[in-house]
Amino acid sequence: MYRTHTCGELRLENVNQKVILSGWVQKVRNLGAMTFVDLRDRYGITQLVVEESAAEEIKKQVEHLGREYVIRVEGTVVERAGRNAKIPTGDIEILIGKISVLSHSEVPPFTIEDNTDGGDEIRMKYRYLDLRRRAVRKNLELRHRMAHLVRNYLDSYNFMEVETPVLIKSTPEGARDFVVPSRMNQGQFYALPQSPQTFKQLLMVAGFDRYYQIVKCFRDEDLRADRQPEFTQIDCEMSFVERDDILNLFEGMIRHLFKELRGIDLPELPRMSWHDAMEYYGCDKPDIRFDMQFVNLTDLARTKEFAVFNTAEYIGGICVPGCASYTRKQLDALTDFVRRPQIGAKGLVYVRYNEDGTVKSSVDKFYAEDDLKTWLDACGAKPGDLLLILSGEKKKTLPQLCELRLEMGSRLGLRDKDVFKPLWVVDFPLLEWDEETRRFYAMHHPFTSPNPEDVDKMESDPGAVRANAYDMVINGVEVGGGSIRIHDAGMQQRMFRCLGFTPEQAEKQFGFLLNAFKYGAPPHGGIAFGFDRLVSMFAGLDSIRDTIAFPKNNSGRDVMLDSPSEIAEEQFRELGIKLS
Ligand code: AMO
Repeated sequence: MYRTHTCGELRLENVNQKVILSGWVQKVRNLGAMTFVDLRDRYGITQLVVEESAAEEIKKQVEHLGREYVIRVEGTVVERAGRNAKIPTGDIEILIGKISVLSHSEVPPFTIEDNTDGGDEIRMKYRYLDLRRRAVRKNLELRHRMAHLVRNYLDSYNFMEVETPVLIKSTPEGARDFVVPSRMNQGQFYALPQSPQTFKQLLMVAGFDRYYQIVKCFRDEDLRADRQPEFTQIDCEMSFVERDDILNLFEGMIRHLFKELRGIDLPELPRMSWHDAMEYYGCDKPDIRFDMQFVNLTDLARTKEFAVFNTAEYIGGICVPGCASYTRKQLDALTDFVRRPQIGAKGLVYVRYNEDGTVKSSVDKFYAEDDLKTWLDACGAKPGDLLLILSGEKKKTLPQLCELRLEMGSRLGLRDKDVFKPLWVVDFPLLEWDEETRRFYAMHHPFTSPNPEDVDKMESDPGAVRANAYDMVINGVEVGGGSIRIHDAGMQQRMFRCLGFTPEQAEKQFGFLLNAFKYGAPPHGGIAFGFDRLVSMFAGLDSIRDTIAFPKNNSGRDVMLDSPSEIAEEQFRELGIKLS
């Protein structure tokens, strides 16, 4: 028998019991008279002790232990003289009676403790060692618990988990596909799914009614902290529902997760139109943990001889509370911040509303104090506040102001990771115009239904049609998105026409779906949550990487496997792929 208890289990009430533990040697401390060993497993750390009076053989064995050796010990639980309040087993220790080494270990490349000396790359290369660290393991434990809660919640609402295929068909819409060559069909390729979207819709046609799947999705897109090339969705679909049925059910799921995992009772989620999100926050995933909404100053500020403003399509400001005392140097640094190529603003105008009621701005040459006060009033500024203003083409200025707002929120400590402010963003546009290819693309995907009120505009004014689509956003992160789908073959054809598909192209790519709709498709809709993003949100992480057991690095590489890698010429030959 390897163990009677785990290394996280023993307490004072176990004193005098004979126990067996197995685990990894985290640390050996030889204090002369006594030697202590920290023994670790998934559940915790228990201190082992060898006293001076112990048998010589045991002393010798302990002397030869190295870090990360796997050992089995038999011993007696005793009360500790010097208690360690930091760990749950800190009141006791095990007096070793017998010890055996189950496995030796080379010296690990970094210390396997909460605070490690290992850099990112080395920890990724030896991910199995990194996963031994509590700090990393606890994120995966949270992931497991969340998956379990999600399954139970959805099961209680009659959802059925169905697996959908991983080798599917490439579609040019959306992100880039990962493709897989077919040996049996040379010159042809499968694609890995970007999501099970069409399959879940087919399951609705099949009458499955409520489907979910915790499922891997693959997208060959540029990586960021919240993106991995393979990631996991909680993918869901329901029949005979309208938008609010879906919003309510999944709001319930998120509330359930917050309650169970963080002990937080969330209030009802606010709903914001996409239009308002853009107008007041400059993006479709507003962080509403703090205010500083944009104020449109275009009409008020385009009145004098200031050419920058007079030629601007849009002038927008944010009122930063309590920052009128910002020094010239701090304001210059902010100007540099908005001018960085990633943000791309040309400059920054500020108005200080001093505590004594006086006003000082970077455009004093052009505007009298009374003019500036009208701006301050419009923004609801109080003495002590600072007004920051950007201007230019509206489409470009809104996201720039968004970055500035987030930066000020961070500087003022208003983006606390333990505060959660989820919301629904609704009424997205159905279509998005792309200048480069000079055509419309589906903002969500081509199966999203238009808002019934706007259907008439699909041909005459496609850009103005709202979609029956929604996103859930938490603290500025899009954690989920979905829509009510088109369930009518005619409407689906019409949508494809708006996207510039010929009937032949639509048939070639999505014929299977259009066909299915001919055989009785129920009204349906759904949503998919980014599971990794949700876990990282609950864990307070900056990147989704640490919620994934074996993630890819920022260049999409698995540094442990050293993948992607070249394949043998023989494999190319079998696949019928010729290398130029
Ligand atoms: P969408 O493309 O919005 O919708 O994806 C749903 C959610 O998945 C997460 N996500 C990602 N997470 C990590 N890495 C990525 N590369 C990545 N890409 C997306 C986001 C996002 O909100 N089939 C539709 C859903 C539907 O309509 O039901 C879909 O895939 O959190």
